[in-house]
Amino acid sequence: MYQAAVLTVSDRSFRGERPDAGGPLVAELLSAAGYEVAKTAIVPDEQPEIEAALKAIADAGDVQLLVTTGGTGFAPRDVTPEATLAVCDRMTPGIPEAMRYASMQVTSRAMLSRAQAGIRKGTLILNLPGSPKAARENLEAILPALSHGLEMLSGRPADCAKLAD
Ligand code: MTE
Repeated sequence: MYQAAVLTVSDRSFRGERPDAGGPLVAELLSAAGYEVAKTAIVPDEQPEIEAALKAIADAGDVQLLVTTGGTGFAPRDVTPEATLAVCDRMTPGIPEAMRYASMQVTSRAMLSRAQAGIRKGTLILNLPGSPKAARENLEAILPALSHGLEMLSGRPADCAKLAD
């Protein structure tokens, strides 16, 4: 079983002005897919604070997957992708490509998400949009392939020829 963390990026939820709907939904979807959600946190849309949270969670070394929700759009304060780029050692562009490809079948506004994904040490960090609907649609598009990536990331020999889906 892989350990996961969920980081909600939202000014309003951080200030307690709006209940965090995206984070708990992502945690629920990950649990249903067999992940143990070991950590959840909320940070405001401030790049230094997002970077600090991503580094603290990844560098503790106890989660293999760190999912963020929120702050991937075009608004001036949407900086989650920049924070993710700043802390990752290696980017994994296929993940956001797959999310946007799948999401474009639902809404052409999917192209407006600037979500990134990448690896910091032994942790895969991936961004989801903030609305619960969008977070669900994006996560569901990539969940089937994720565990194979995490298996490779952990250094365990992964059989790429064995098709899982
Ligand atoms: N992806 C899916 N699957 N479904 C959606 O409804 N909404 C889009 C996009 N991706 C959407 C989606 C919209 S309207 C925006 S503005 C961007 O995600 C960014 O969302 P964020 O700023 O909440 O991160």
